[in-house]
Amino acid sequence: MAAVSVQHLHDPDSISYLSQSSAIGIDEHLMGPLGFSVDQLMELAGLSVASAIAEVYSSLDHARVLLLCGPGNNGGDGLVAARHLQHFGYKPSIVYPKRTDKPLYHGLVTQLESLSVPFLSHEDLPSELSSGYDIVVDAMFGFSFKGKNAPPFDKLVQLLTRTPNVVSVDVPSGWHVEEGDVNGLGLNPDMLVSLTAPKLCAKMFKGPHHFLGGRFVPPAVVNKFNLKLPPYPGTSQCVRIGRTPHVDVAALRENYVGSVLLENQVNSDPIQQFKEWFEDAVAAGLPEPNAMTLATADAEGRPSARMVLLKGYDARGFVWYTNYDSRKANELNSNPNASLVFFWDRLHRQVRVEGDVSPVSREESDDYFHSRPRESQIGALVSSQSAVISGRHILDESYEQLVAKYADRSLAIPRPEHWGGFRLAPRAIEFWQGRESRLHDRIRFTRLANSSEWKIERLSP
Ligand SMILES: Cc1cc2nc3c(=O)[nH]c(=O)nc-3n(C[C@H](O)[C@H](O)[C@H](O)COP(=O)(O)O)c2cc1C
Repeated sequence: MAAVSVQHLHDPDSISYLSQSSAIGIDEHLMGPLGFSVDQLMELAGLSVASAIAEVYSSLDHARVLLLCGPGNNGGDGLVAARHLQHFGYKPSIVYPKRTDKPLYHGLVTQLESLSVPFLSHEDLPSELSSGYDIVVDAMFGFSFKGKNAPPFDKLVQLLTRTPNVVSVDVPSGWHVEEGDVNGLGLNPDMLVSLTAPKLCAKMFKGPHHFLGGRFVPPAVVNKFNLKLPPYPGTSQCVRIGRTPHVDVAALRENYVGSVLLENQVNSDPIQQFKEWFEDAVAAGLPEPNAMTLATADAEGRPSARMVLLKGYDARGFVWYTNYDSRKANELNSNPNASLVFFWDRLHRQVRVEGDVSPVSREESDDYFHSRPRESQIGALVSSQSAVISGRHILDESYEQLVAKYADRSLAIPRPEHWGGFRLAPRAIEFWQGRESRLHDRIRFTRLANSSEWKIERLSP
């Protein structure tokens, strides 16, 4: 298993940002002396947009992708991305109001139609895009665009300003390529996929996910235009740049190849040590870095384990949310001893936590419940988790009834009493770093009795 390098997660200032004229110059150079065709560049750009989306949004819970495609190359990138997303298991739909009358674009439309990807009229879109789509891709205008958005794109930009999970391709629509959202009327996308190199406006991007795609820039272009670009990991078509959510970039290790965990390196506070490792896992782009195995045992000591998602951690412990009538909750009620395991495969790391579990406060559960997407809130109401049911229809019928009951989105959905959080207060935390020849590093923190101090020991692998 190859170790992941996170060296590319530098300060954004260490990457080149292009003016509009340099971006145009690079394109002309690629398609002139360097022999690329527009079709090739568009294919790789669209593939990198689809790959970056797949890095952030799983097709399991974000399958419905709406792509808004403009008339130029940016729209073409969107059409290509739609094709790849379809092959990746997403369900793309396309709005392409001003079609370009060129063979390349006709071909892209034909390919999508042959995959039964629906083309929709912008007039048929719901007034709240989030009611029908999990992700919306803004592929309307790219770096060569100047001027004002013409209808219907002006309305589409407005619609996107109140839509979650917007992914902008290269330049957020409505933004000035160099100065950003100068009128304050443009989008605030959650994700930006810069192509070739980020444009100057990307410095103003405040969303949590900034990726670079378009893995075709040869050294001749890097040298001629004096570009500083991050390396792409492995065979990936995209690389995360800028700051990752909740990540203190300064805390990142230089290189994971040959990572070691020595007593004099670890933070004396295991929660801080966990924070560093957790942020490394986020920064390395691992899928669901907050997924953890929760092991419980019943009153007779018979164990059971399952995955849950970490939703918060601090000196008090590690928090997840679940059903208070579930098997795990019943076991915890009779035996509060539990253990958690995190496994971050590509970093060759594992963290094991042991301790006592208790419910979080009602306020914490309320706050988290209401921060979840409405559909997940309804899901929590529907499920009698761990109970035997006679068929899938029990869930589907109950879900439909509750969707109808709470159709008025201004009505808050009350948190059911049977749903809430648990916190495991750690007694022991072990950090495991895989090393060569199976001589792994294992550092265990054990809380000293009646103290906030921790004993630190090395365990044999
Ligand atoms: C990656 C992953 C994350 C999960 N996260 C949660 C979670 O946060 N809360 C939860 O109740 N179940 C979660 N589940 C489902 C649980 O694994 C399990 O099926 C469910 O909680 C019932 O477990 P129990 O019958 O032992 O109580 C997750 C499953 C997976 C695969």
